[in-house]
Amino acid sequence: MSQTVRMVVLVVLLLLVDHTHSFQPLFSSKGNSTTHRDITQRAVLIKTAQVCRDIAAEEGWGFSLTIDDSLTVEKVQRACSSTGTSTSVLSTVRYQTSIAIMYFTNALVDVVFALSEEHHFDDETFTGGRDVITAGTAVKTQRTLYLFPQFLMNSFTYIYLCLLMLKGVFAVKSSVKQENYGAGRLVLGQVCHTLQDFYSHSNWVELGNKSPYAALIKPDQTLENLAGPSVPTCRNCTDGNCENNLLPDLQQQGLLTSGYFNLFSSEKPAGKCSHGGSFDKTSRKDPIGGISKDDTGSSHGSLHHQAADLAVNATVELLEDIRLAVGNKKFLQLMGLSQSTVLCFVIDTTGSMSDDIAEAKRVSFEIIDSKRGTQQEPSAYILVPFNDPGFGPLVMTTNADIFKDSINALTASGGGDIPEMCLSGLQLALTAAPSTSEIFVFTDAPAKDAHLKSTITALIESSKSVVTFMLTDVLASRRRRSLQGVRPRAMSQADAQLYRDLARASGGQAIEVTKDDLSKATTVIEDSSASAVVTVFQVVSNPGKPDNFSFTVDGSLKNMTAYITGKSSLTFSITSATGVTQSSSESSGPLATLTTTGNLRRLSLNAENQTGLWEISVNSNDPYSVKVIGQSSVNFIYNLVEAHEGAHGDYSL
Ligand SMILES: *[C@@H]1O[C@H](CO)[C@@H](O)[C@H](O)[C@H]1NC(C)=O
Ligand SMILES: *[C@@H]1O[C@H](CO)[C@@H](O)[C@H](O)[C@H]1NC(C)=O
Ligand SMILES: *[C@@H]1O[C@H](CO)[C@@H](O)[C@H](O)[C@H]1NC(C)=O
Ligand SMILES: *[C@@H]1O[C@H](CO)[C@@H](O)[C@H](O)[C@H]1NC(C)=O
Ligand SMILES: *[C@@H]1O[C@H](CO)[C@@H](O)[C@H](O)[C@H]1NC(C)=O
Ligand SMILES: *[C@@H]1O[C@H](CO)[C@@H](O)[C@H](O)[C@H]1NC(C)=O
Repeated sequence: MSQTVRMVVLVVLLLLVDHTHSFQPLFSSKGNSTTHRDITQRAVLIKTAQVCRDIAAEEGWGFSLTIDDSLTVEKVQRACSSTGTSTSVLSTVRYQTSIAIMYFTNALVDVVFALSEEHHFDDETFTGGRDVITAGTAVKTQRTLYLFPQFLMNSFTYIYLCLLMLKGVFAVKSSVKQENYGAGRLVLGQVCHTLQDFYSHSNWVELGNKSPYAALIKPDQTLENLAGPSVPTCRNCTDGNCENNLLPDLQQQGLLTSGYFNLFSSEKPAGKCSHGGSFDKTSRKDPIGGISKDDTGSSHGSLHHQAADLAVNATVELLEDIRLAVGNKKFLQLMGLSQSTVLCFVIDTTGSMSDDIAEAKRVSFEIIDSKRGTQQEPSAYILVPFNDPGFGPLVMTTNADIFKDSINALTASGGGDIPEMCLSGLQLALTAAPSTSEIFVFTDAPAKDAHLKSTITALIESSKSVVTFMLTDVLASRRRRSLQGVRPRAMSQADAQLYRDLARASGGQAIEVTKDDLSKATTVIEDSSASAVVTVFQVVSNPGKPDNFSFTVDGSLKNMTAYITGKSSLTFSITSATGVTQSSSESSGPLATLTTTGNLRRLSLNAENQTGLWEISVNSNDPYSVKVIGQSSVNFIYNLVEAHEGAHGDYSL
């Protein structure tokens, strides 16, 4: 593409972004207006709560939440979690994140499909709009999309591709049936946009309807009473007042119409209504004015709240239609109502790894068996073996027994004395795991594919996943000695540094132990599989120097654990908010129980009634890391958005 063309494309895109025309996407600038984001969130909360209420009735546990517009993410998550074990800390992170993805892709329709009438029910495109909602995408197209890495789940490119390639409720249902909830949410957000726009852009509300137009989500029903192409629908607004601009004949006959909209041209068929607003050129042509109810300041702004309320109910009906097709369990997964984590292992299967494989098996079986049937049961299992020259296949399943069988089937063989395809295996896991997963890599060999380092770093950033390495038998000396030209398999300090760098980039750890001690270090895997785990503090000092670090403990934090990795010469002391101090020489003191394995010191903190500023003082001149985690219902989630100016002034992902 030449530079000029590229600039034109950019300018057009900016124009489109500026002139969105629908319920405002994310933020309301017009006083008390309801946005696509509000509508989507309200509908998701209502439908999720209804499904939980039904499940509670079926299973005979109590459900006392009143389902109305005052629902919040926290209230619904809590009410849905009352299955018995309600003592554990609740996290709403997954639910919040899923809802956000849905309203961000909802809002993106105004950018990606700004010029498509059907996506907004503009220009009386009722059949086209209904197709956007209900149409199916060929299964083949979907398969192609699934080849696109999910690691881009939060990136514009992936979302853009999904929006272009996957269409309609049909695609939502089939994605969910294949347990591809990420793609399901993206398409659902998009479908919701079009459905919601109908109530703002058509005269459905003006016709006096009090319930949603059911035929819009039912492809087999005919759309009746549409105003024909030559039927006039509007007259001039008088002195800017559009309250009575719909023609009385049209209203009496109960004919359905929607406003014409165009950014560039004022052309529209004779006698037809416009959308209205300063960016709609057609609204300046006879008949002047518009009928949109996008916000309280629109042409029909007095009906804005009625339109928004109907759009909520219509979205609830759409969600019910999806629930009927996929069942309660998968529906709740689609909504993101899941507490649990994904258990994800990347395992070296070369000759010397049989002890490590046995340990990976033991710890995963322990997690599976202790959590089965509870709300902490992992929501999915991912296993990627790697060897040399091969890696994979990836096993991704929600069935714990399939995962057990797969890990049972791993055997250590081959490889010998050359480095292995570790990063290729990790890449596969990062692309398949849902964002913010924690991935554990087991290996005792250097990576042969170190050239993938920058790719892996980018993947880590876009997926927000955490990678922790369980490295066995790293040589203590800086240099690997080669025996008669044969490269020994063991990892040098330099080899291990690659893994440390990746762990650090992701917020994970590089744990270095002997094979004999591995089973003591895998408690970090069990720690991370608890519910509502949050990172309170993390730092890497490289090159290491003595330093003091402080972190705040608040009343929401439970079960706090601190990890310090570094050479065995490292010493430290920890001081609580009340001034109590414990040094690294005390394995069991007033503040913590300390266990040391390889380069890892794990401190199980006793932070009860000790809220405030804690301090860790580390004394080491070699590289080290400090990480403090806990369980809390308070967490931090973020999305990177771009501001744009113009009519509404809004943000897009
Ligand atoms: C905002 O709109 C809602 C209806 O959705 C209404 O109940 C509420 O009173 C309004 N608030 C203000 C400040 O106008
Ligand atoms: C803290 O962890 C222990 C075991 O690791 C667990 O039994 C307990 O339920 C946890 N506490 C909370 C509040 O989740
Ligand atoms: C509508 O308003 C325009 C501009 O004021 C005027 O030219 C046109 O004649 C009006 N149409 C009718 C039917 O009154
Ligand atoms: C939406 O549905 C609820 C529950 O069915 C109902 O109470 C409410 O009146 C409906 N709102 C509109 C605007 O139809
Ligand atoms: C850490 O804190 C202690 C006590 O407050 C102080 O003596 C020491 O100098 C500090 N060390 C560094 C590196 O700041
Ligand atoms: C923490 O405080 C509560 C209430 O003040 C008390 O019941 C509990 O025993 C305290 N726990 C510890 C470990 O001191």
